[in-house]
Amino acid sequence: MKILHIDSSILGDASVSRQLSQAIVARLKVKHHDAAVEYLDLAKQPIPHLTAEILMGQDADQAALGEQIIQQYLDADIVVIGAAMYNFGLTSTLKAWIDRISVAGKTFKYTENGPIGLAGDKKAYIASSRGGIYGENSPADFQEGFLKTVFNFTGVNDIEVIRAEGVNMGPELKDQAIAAALTQVHSL
Ligand SMILES: Cc1cc2nc3c(=O)[nH]c(=O)nc-3n(C[C@H](O)[C@H](O)[C@H](O)COP(=O)(O)O)c2cc1C
Repeated sequence: MKILHIDSSILGDASVSRQLSQAIVARLKVKHHDAAVEYLDLAKQPIPHLTAEILMGQDADQAALGEQIIQQYLDADIVVIGAAMYNFGLTSTLKAWIDRISVAGKTFKYTENGPIGLAGDKKAYIASSRGGIYGENSPADFQEGFLKTVFNFTGVNDIEVIRAEGVNMGPELKDQAIAAALTQVHSL
């Protein structure tokens, strides 16, 4: 059992998505004693943004890194992603990771009937934190919706969202939102 745990919030110990993703992984480790966890902190160690040279395979170091990132994603049985909403979307560092795992022939392939995901046999948990309140499927949500689309595109359809939102709408709402999300985690 392999768990890939990814954080990218820039807020360090004050980060809500980090708190939630950590709680999810702790809970999963109770359920799966044999779980091996690989951790990426994209705020501390960002993956370089995709460039023409990287895309064309002209940078050997980055090609090797790209292979490693893809393999790590393919190998994971469970992916836990701390997803902070910044400017309605994801952190740019998480987007940089997505740009590296979304590779034709590796995590999806094009067919006559459209694209098919190749990384399907895994579960994804999205630890979502948002300053405002958006609920499900808001037209202003380019964070959870985007991540779900990327997971679906690579064949991952088993997705669970643990969400704390309204965390910038006063300390009381923030505490309530985090407590509700952690209750959800404990029932996983
Ligand atoms: C740079 C930045 C941009 C943000 N943009 C939004 C936003 O567009 N909508 C929103 O509801 N909250 C926004 N927030 C609030 C965050 O979503 C909230 O603080 C959340 O907890 C971030 O996750 P984190 O605590 O793990 O970093 C923003 C916060 C930061 C620091």
